[in-house]
Amino acid sequence: MTRVRFHKADGTFDVEVDAAAGQRLLDVAWAANQPLEGACEGVMACSTCHVIVDADDFARLPPASEEEEDLLDIAAHVRRTSRLACQIMTSEALETLSVRMPPAARNWMGR
Ligand code: FES
Repeated sequence: MTRVRFHKADGTFDVEVDAAAGQRLLDVAWAANQPLEGACEGVMACSTCHVIVDADDFARLPPASEEEEDLLDIAAHVRRTSRLACQIMTSEALETLSVRMPPAARNWMGR
């Protein structure tokens, strides 16, 4: 189990959820009604799933792949600790993970 804390774009706390280990953070975010579009549903063809990870938690994540880095390069509102939520898998090692929505987070797909 991994506890995930979601924060709004302005940094205020939104919701905290428990996720089973091995879930994509994108799926956890959708289940928690977070405004992440994730247009390509994780096939690395968009960057609409990016989140800003808490700095301490960022250091605990496995490094981003070159493909993920390339997509983050073209995303809007990227910060030093931005990552793609479709590429982060929950695990006990990530207990408690805090992420913030980027300023332009929208979910046009109505998830
Ligand atoms: S959902 Fe498209 S890259 Fe993550």
